[in-house]
Amino acid sequence: MPELMDTAGRCLCSDWHVHELAITSSTNLVAAKYGAWEAVRADRQSAGRGRFQRGWVSDEGGLWLSAVVPTGPNAADWRALPLAVGLAVCDALQSIGLKRFRVRWPNDVLVDDRKLAGLLVDQFAPGLAVAGIGLNVFNHPEAHDPGLKNQVIRLADLLPAPPDLSQLTQILLNHLRPVVEVIRSEGFDALLPRINQLWGRPRRVELDLDGDLCLGTFVGVGREGELLLLSDAGNKTAYDASQVRHLKEIDL
Ligand code: BTN
Repeated sequence: MPELMDTAGRCLCSDWHVHELAITSSTNLVAAKYGAWEAVRADRQSAGRGRFQRGWVSDEGGLWLSAVVPTGPNAADWRALPLAVGLAVCDALQSIGLKRFRVRWPNDVLVDDRKLAGLLVDQFAPGLAVAGIGLNVFNHPEAHDPGLKNQVIRLADLLPAPPDLSQLTQILLNHLRPVVEVIRSEGFDALLPRINQLWGRPRRVELDLDGDLCLGTFVGVGREGELLLLSDAGNKTAYDASQVRHLKEIDL
C-alpha cells in the first residue's frame, strides 16, 4: 500500500499493532486488555455493542475495529474524544474518495440519512480509551435485523471498489493516530473548526435530556465538545454530552 500523507505532507505511517480475529463478542471488550496503539479487528462480532447498551449488528463483510489510544491528564480534552474519532473516520472516508457524507451528533456517519458508521468510545483503564468503529462495507445488516431496512448504507453501495477490510483498517488507523496526537499536543480545540464542518447544514432537533425533551436547532459543538443548541427565541445553550441521551433530527 502506498504511504499516506496528511495535508501538511507528513507521513501517516502505521505504528499500530493490529490483532485480527475471525469472531469475538465485541472488539471493544477484547481491546480492553491491550495497550496504546494496539487495535483489534474481527470478521464478526457475536455481541457487538452500540451506544446506550444497544446491540450492533456485526455480520461478515463489515469493519469491526477497536483501537486503543492514550489519553492525557486534561479531562476536558478527552471528554470530546468521540467527536475526534468521528473526524478521523471522516478523514479516512474522504481519502478513499467518498464525498456525500455527514456526521449526526455525536458521531454517527450518515449518507442521505442512512447510517454508514457508528462509533463507541469506552474507557476501561485510566490513561487509555478504546475507540470502537463499526463501518458497513460489504455486509448486509438489514438481512440480520429487518428493522434496519432503509436505515443503513454500506461502502459497497457508494464506491465502485471499496478497499478490502485490511486496507480499510490501516487507512482508519492511519487517520486516527494524528488526530489523537493533535489532542495530546495542542488540545481538543485545535480540531474544532474541522469537526464543526462535519455536520452539514444546521438542523432542527429534539434533544432527550434524560427524560426532558428540548427543541431547537443544532449549530455545532463548542470548545470542549459541548453541544450547542439555538432555541426558537434565539438563545444559544451548551449541553455537555453526558446530559444528552439522544439527539433526534426532526426536519429530515
Ligand atoms: C453506535 O452507533 O451505536 C455505535 C456502534 C459501534 C460499533 C463498533 S463495532 C466495533 C466496536 N465493537 C463493538 O462492540 N462496538 C464497536
